[in-house]
Parts: sequence; C-alpha cells; structure tokens
Amino acid sequence: MAAIAADLQQAGLWLTESKRVAALTGAGISAESGVPTFRGKDGLWQGFKATDLATPQAFARDPKLVWNFYNWRRELLAPLQPNPAHKALIRLEEKIPQFSLITQNIDDLHRRAGSKNLVELHGNIWMVRCTRCHLVSRNEEVPLPELPACEECGGLLRPHVVWFGEQLDPTILDKAVAAIRSCDIMLVIGTSALVQPAASLAIVAKEQGARVVEINLEPTPYSHKLDLALQGKAGVLLPQLVERLE
Ligand code: OAD
Repeated sequence: MAAIAADLQQAGLWLTESKRVAALTGAGISAESGVPTFRGKDGLWQGFKATDLATPQAFARDPKLVWNFYNWRRELLAPLQPNPAHKALIRLEEKIPQFSLITQNIDDLHRRAGSKNLVELHGNIWMVRCTRCHLVSRNEEVPLPELPACEECGGLLRPHVVWFGEQLDPTILDKAVAAIRSCDIMLVIGTSALVQPAASLAIVAKEQGARVVEINLEPTPYSHKLDLALQGKAGVLLPQLVERLE
C-alpha cells in the first residue's frame, strides 16, 4: 500500500509539471462499468470468441451471425455508465493545457463521460458504415435488424469498427501518434498492450523522452520498460492520481 501511495505521489508530481499529457485506454478502464474485456473468460458469446467474430472474413461468410453478435454487444453496452476512471480523465482534461485521450475501446463511455479531445482508434459501436456507398452514420437503434440496410443506397451496413486483420484509419492513427510524439507524460490505462499498433505507442512516447505511467490490474509485457507501473483498479487509482493535482 505504501509503495502504491509513493508511486501515486510521484506520478502526480510528474503530471503537475506537465503541459502536454496523452492517455491511452483499453478494455480494462471499462471493466468496472460492466464491459467484458477481450481476453478475459467473459469475452465469449455463444461459445464464439470475439476474436473469431470481429473479422471481415466472419462478416463475409455470415453477416447475420456477426450482426447478432453486435446486437448482443449493443444491448449489453446501452445501459452502461462511465465509472470513476472515465470521470477522472475528464477532470484531468480540464486541468492540463493540452490533453489527448486515445482509446482502443468502442464502447462510447469516454464520450458519454464528456471527454472532448478523444481519438477512437478502433471506431465506435454506435456508428455504422455502408458496405456499398461507405456512408458513415451514428445509429443507436437496439437491436438493429438482422441485416440492417443503408438509408441512402440500401446497401448492407456493417459496424464502423476496426476488425481483426483490418488497418486502422491512417488519419486517426496519425492524430494519435502526433499526440504521443508531443506529450510530456503518457498514461497507459487498462490495456493488455498486446494489439498493435496501439501497443507500440507507449514505446514511441518513451523514445521521444516522455515519461510513461501504466495503470493495470496486473503487469503487462511492457511494464518493466515504463517509468512506473501502478497495479490496481483504474476506477480506484485514477481518481486518487487526479486528486493529487487538485
Ligand atoms: P484486453 O482485454 O486485452 O486487456 C484488458 C486489460 O485491462 C488487461 O491487461 C487487464 O489486466 C486490465 N484490466 C482489467 N480490469 C481492469 C481494471 N479494473 N483496472 C485496470 N486494468 C484492468 O483489452 P485491450 O488491451 O483493450 O481490438 O485490447 C486491445 C484491443 O484488442 C481491443 O481494442 C480489441 C482487442 O482485440 C479490436 O477490436 C481491433
């Protein structure tokens, strides 16, 4: 406990001295809101792994199955609320002159909490994209029809999220990299740091001289390369960290 308090103190001091802060979040920040993480045992749906359904191949083979999976996720996510970790990031954004939040999450919880300068690397579950005319729009209908159609051209809609095996939107990735390249300190919160290119963002930050602080329930493959790795719940540690700036 004393070690965590000292680490929080140290991270708080670094934040106080920083003008530019970037935060990268993953599924772990939403776990306390009730969102299942990807690699936890609760990440299964009807015996399928999320990693087998969130792919372009699965959608080409069986779009109804993939939409069933997304309808289930939309139903699950619709009532969930931001937790103290999401809210602590709002307070941080208010205090830091230049704050960028980069998330791998598609759950919308940062937006619902009120984050403003937000980069959603993997898209958003409430956005859909037409596979024919490529129109992107927000759609909060729950559930959507088994095979939802584009209002403009009637083409088949797909979730506007990045699936396994797909490239990230280069404009969005550039925005994230620019924030990381110019930050004084980076917070890496609730991500297993296994999926590229998000995982290497912490290394980019370190290489350009920023301090990197991780908050995670457990050590990750990157923990030992970072300046501090705080172990515990994001919903507990982040508010305590931000309190140190108040
Ligand atoms: P993972 O499920 O891989 O990792 C979640 C991380 O959060 C783990 O390291 C947990 O230890 C940690 N964690 C869980 N509960 C926590 C809590 N209460 N407080 C702090 N940490 C906690 O999820 P991601 O790293 O987000 O990609 O996965 C990255 C990407 O891989 C996802 O965006 C998704 C996935 O496959 C796509 O969909 C393209």
